[in-house]
Amino acid sequence: MKYSTLPKSLFTKNRKKFMSAMKSKSLAVFNSNDVFSTGADTTLPFHQHRNIFYLSGVDQEESILLLFPDAKNKAHREMLFLKETNDHIAVWEGEKLNKLQATSVSGIESIFWLTDFDRLFREVMAEAETVYLDTNEHYRQAVEMESREDRFIKKTKAKYPAHHWERSYPILERLRGVKELEEIDLIQHACSITEKGFRRILDFVKPGVTEYEIEAEFSHEFLRNRSRGFAYTPIIASGYSACVLHYIENNKTCHDGDMLLLDVGAEYANYASDMTRTIPVSGKFTVRQKAVYQAVQRVKDEATKLLVPGTMWDAYHVEVGKMMTSELLGLGLLDKADVQNESSEHPAYKKYFMHGTSHHMGLDTHDYGPLKTPMVANMVFTVEPGIYIPEENMGVRLEDDVVIQSKGAPLNLMGNIPIDVEEIEDLMNR
Ligand code: GLY
Ligand code: MN
Ligand code: MN
Repeated sequence: MKYSTLPKSLFTKNRKKFMSAMKSKSLAVFNSNDVFSTGADTTLPFHQHRNIFYLSGVDQEESILLLFPDAKNKAHREMLFLKETNDHIAVWEGEKLNKLQATSVSGIESIFWLTDFDRLFREVMAEAETVYLDTNEHYRQAVEMESREDRFIKKTKAKYPAHHWERSYPILERLRGVKELEEIDLIQHACSITEKGFRRILDFVKPGVTEYEIEAEFSHEFLRNRSRGFAYTPIIASGYSACVLHYIENNKTCHDGDMLLLDVGAEYANYASDMTRTIPVSGKFTVRQKAVYQAVQRVKDEATKLLVPGTMWDAYHVEVGKMMTSELLGLGLLDKADVQNESSEHPAYKKYFMHGTSHHMGLDTHDYGPLKTPMVANMVFTVEPGIYIPEENMGVRLEDDVVIQSKGAPLNLMGNIPIDVEEIEDLMNR
């Protein structure tokens, strides 16, 4: 792992919270992600499944976590199964967790090799009545691929058809949505690495550079700061491309007079950061660019103030829509007739601002977190309004990551990342 050692107290706490939400006589199982093949003997770098990581800190393929808080045998209450390692395997496959290391990472005492799983699972299943299964029910999930977890679920349900089945997802959605202080520190760390990348490219961007060279500058800065790299595929979009919301080709040349939208965030220790800045390629905003930019910035600032305990996510979006409508009228992009003819399903502002304003942020960029209950302290949200004007070859989005506080305005984890027009221009023209 590139990241420094994490406090195992975080994972112990997370397991305790999960186990206290389980029904009596139940157990829960969490699997690692698969390692993805690209063909022949080549694989993509391993990315751990966020749930087993959240509950154990184990960042290794082919691991299984089993939680059974009511187990009669104390050693069966928390069990971790790992791919076997020894000195010989270490030479061929590199460093893998041994049993002592696994305990020191996770705080779990009962560590076994994977070869013991079937035997021990049979033993605990004889005692358990209910099994929690970890299905992906995220509101934005759109994955057809069968995961290691899915295969485990299929096999287990076929072998033990008389057990009761429960969903881990609703518990994890609730727990992961409210961050522990250790997690906020890790997200802050990821945001600070993103800041370094952004400051680096402010010195680099000028007419004639390409989007992929800018991507390379970010990548360089992220990797030298113990990040594995981008938390999500970066969007480096100059001119018209900024109006293509999921533009990820990053293959064009930046031209004098264009704006450049950068939706880029570093990961750190599996935690994401999610930033968007929009800068003038020339280092100087035109009058029109500045007007659009500052309209987006005002919406961002006002929207942020609404992220307080008690706010409902849906109602918040309605309020942000009103702010955006007023700015679009001011910019001459909408007129009164557009607003008179709108409906709540089709508000006029959607022509220029077609995506949501905020999502939970954390281990996943679009993190687990409740959206139908009032916001509470220590939830982390993005705030990311934008105005996209294809006819003017311009798209502006500004995005920060903020933590809801028990009182007052949220804490902006990106508060040090330059955003004001004057500061951006000064830094680009040093
Ligand atoms: N970078 C993905 C998002 O802003 O939601
Ligand atoms: Mn983003
Ligand atoms: Mn975002």
